[in-house]
Amino acid sequence: MRIGVAGVGRIGALHAQNLVAAVGAANVVITDADPERARATAAALGVASAPDVEALLAGGIDGGVDGLVVATPTDTHAALVLRAVAAGIPVFCEKPVAPDIASTRAVLAQVQAAGGLVQVGFQRRFDPGYVAAHEAVASGVLGPIHTIVGQTLDPTPPPAAYVAVSGGIFRDCLVHDLDILRWVTGQEAVEVYATGANLGDDYIRAAGDVDAVAVTLTMADCSLAMLSASRYNRAGYDVRMEVRGHRDSIAVGLEPRTPIRSMEPMTYPSEPAFPGFLERFGAAYAAEMAAFVSLVRSGGSSRCTVADALAAFVLAEACEISRRERRPVAVADIEAAGVLPGQQGRVSLEGVA
Ligand SMILES: NC(=O)c1ccc[n+]([C@@H]2O[C@H](COP(=O)([O-])OP(=O)(O)OC[C@H]3O[C@@H](n4cnc5c(N)ncnc54)[C@H](O)[C@@H]3O)[C@@H](O)[C@H]2O)c1
Repeated sequence: MRIGVAGVGRIGALHAQNLVAAVGAANVVITDADPERARATAAALGVASAPDVEALLAGGIDGGVDGLVVATPTDTHAALVLRAVAAGIPVFCEKPVAPDIASTRAVLAQVQAAGGLVQVGFQRRFDPGYVAAHEAVASGVLGPIHTIVGQTLDPTPPPAAYVAVSGGIFRDCLVHDLDILRWVTGQEAVEVYATGANLGDDYIRAAGDVDAVAVTLTMADCSLAMLSASRYNRAGYDVRMEVRGHRDSIAVGLEPRTPIRSMEPMTYPSEPAFPGFLERFGAAYAAEMAAFVSLVRSGGSSRCTVADALAAFVLAEACEISRRERRPVAVADIEAAGVLPGQQGRVSLEGVA
């Protein structure tokens, strides 16, 4: 069994490293549009490299690969996912599957028509704390859930060039909180109300984006969620969730490295704070690759499908519309209407069966 990795930048190199740990260097092949990066990564990990994705899939390397990890820039995901599905192999795709709802819908329809197996890279679904929270809610031990709190605080904002094409803080960042909210609670949001602020660098405002957001969501069971995010938390990377029920309440992300200081007489954090997502979610990234290896080896069902990615994207879109128009947005309206003006069809799926 061999697994290919397309794109070995920041996240793809980590996935390749985790795959080497899971299946051995002889069973991993990488490719990158930057030949020097491909060469250096292949040498560092002791794996083979291919000139491009076609060479990976078409058998140019010892008969091709049995699974493909897509960790290239967002605007290339849809075409690569559909190319792998057309080749009949399972594919892991970094989030987002596509830059807008229309394209994500198109991918979903084609994946479903082809019976493709796709795992999307919402790694929090593999983080031990979130997995335990998911199980606690499912077991009913918390009693009826009344409120949920979630947050993502980045230490520093991404550079201007990234912000300009990121799709905004809801689609780029808070989408992880929206996805994990659905997965942990097993509930769909029916209404969102979002607001945002520019409290930091001017280039974020200039891009039409905000650097701090707060969202309230009404869930289908009438429980209430409050999500927030900021691009500025110099103390460290701080991702947390609380699920509060009538019988018990739980927290995810409160650990010795959580970068928050208690005002009570206790030492917190007691270890160096998480500097970024790679450190905070190291175990989750390894576990999601192990799950993908299992899908390639034995089949089964994906813990995070394209339909899940679409659902999270719809919520992110609802947040963006709510913030811009300063009004509550019914999620059903976004599902029915689709997309913001000017966003349709940015990813060409032409020529990809
Ligand atoms: N799940 C997460 O926590 C997480 C974290 C970081 C990034 N991401 C996602 O992963 C994707 C990649 O992000 P990144 O930060 O690693 O980007 P990056 O720019 O560091 O790496 C992308 C790599 O892909 C290569 N590439 C571009 N086009 C290619 C092609 N057609 N074939 C092969 N290689 C190609 C580039 O040369 C580069 O090396 C993005 O979609 C991002 O949203 C997800």
